[in-house]
Amino acid sequence: MSKVTVIGSGNVGATVAQCVAEKDVADVVLIDIIEGMPQGKALDMMEAAPIHGHDRKIHGTNDYADTKDSDIVVITAGIARKPGMSRDDLLKINAGIVQTCSKEALKHSPNAIFIIVTNPLDVMTYLAWQTTKLPTHRVMGMAGVLDSGRFQTFIGMELKTSVQDVRAMVLGGHGDLMVPLPKYSTVNGVPITELMPKDRVEALCQRTRDGGAEIVALLKSGSAWYAPGASAALMVEAILKDQNRLLPCCVYADGQYGLKDVYVGLPTVLGREGVKKIIDLKLDDSESAALKKSADSIKENIDAMNKLLAATV
Ligand code: NAI
Ligand code: 2OP
Repeated sequence: MSKVTVIGSGNVGATVAQCVAEKDVADVVLIDIIEGMPQGKALDMMEAAPIHGHDRKIHGTNDYADTKDSDIVVITAGIARKPGMSRDDLLKINAGIVQTCSKEALKHSPNAIFIIVTNPLDVMTYLAWQTTKLPTHRVMGMAGVLDSGRFQTFIGMELKTSVQDVRAMVLGGHGDLMVPLPKYSTVNGVPITELMPKDRVEALCQRTRDGGAEIVALLKSGSAWYAPGASAALMVEAILKDQNRLLPCCVYADGQYGLKDVYVGLPTVLGREGVKKIIDLKLDDSESAALKKSADSIKENIDAMNKLLAATV
């Protein structure tokens, strides 16, 4: 049986663990720095197994030795921005956490594929790659599956159609500059641009860009976890089952779409070795410009992060 380690057992991490176990694709190790918490959540999930009807083992721990020989490591560890904390403070703290977690996990699972979830997503994925020095096909970030899932949801609501018939594609960074692609978003193959007026298409694109903030505004403390957890679990399943699924993932661009040395959301074929291929979609000038703008902003943040990290050494 495959083994998946989820680092950070908070809202997102616990949901990833539960979804992976329920998919019956791997045993799961749930790890956190808080003593007792991953153990408690893991035991609770184990007690749900007979009810859900699977035999997967979920093990909670504070010790990386238990993560040994994992096939996939999902990093969700991090802190949320608190009142009075600048974006730079947050970046520095989460960068330190992602560096520690990826180094520790790699020591015990040198052959693992890494999926990063911690925000700011694209920058943290670049950092995990920089830290582990793994080949780029084994380090990726989760954002596009979630952002596309949100777009699919809003399209289904607008057209009062089953979301099972809705496919959607959102590229770019996981932030205000993400790039929803209406012409590649369809209801059973029919582009949504043929099914609703232009202003409604734009309204749904904007709601997608604001999708994370909409949930934060409702919850008032913390951010989304059900859809993020399910999204990371879908990527885990695609990899472990070697499904060759075409999913938007945060991947290393090395010339694709004219982008270089940056982690950004692109259409990716996922299978057992991780990123098998980046698909070259035809984009019009405005879509290409939007993708470049998004990637440029990620690059600026990577530079800012590397300066902050250099200053603390
Ligand atoms: P949370 O606060 O519920 O959980 C974070 C957990 O990380 C806590 O249990 C904490 O103890 C743990 N942690 C902190 N430092 C650690 C370390 N060094 N080693 C192990 N564990 C450590 O937060 P939540 O809601 O689960 O979110 C987690 C991260 O995922 C955040 O950065 C959030 O912004 C991000 N996120 C990203 C999404 C995406 O689309 N990429 C979507 C949703 C959330
Ligand atoms: C989200 O999109 C906060 O990145 C997180 O929900």
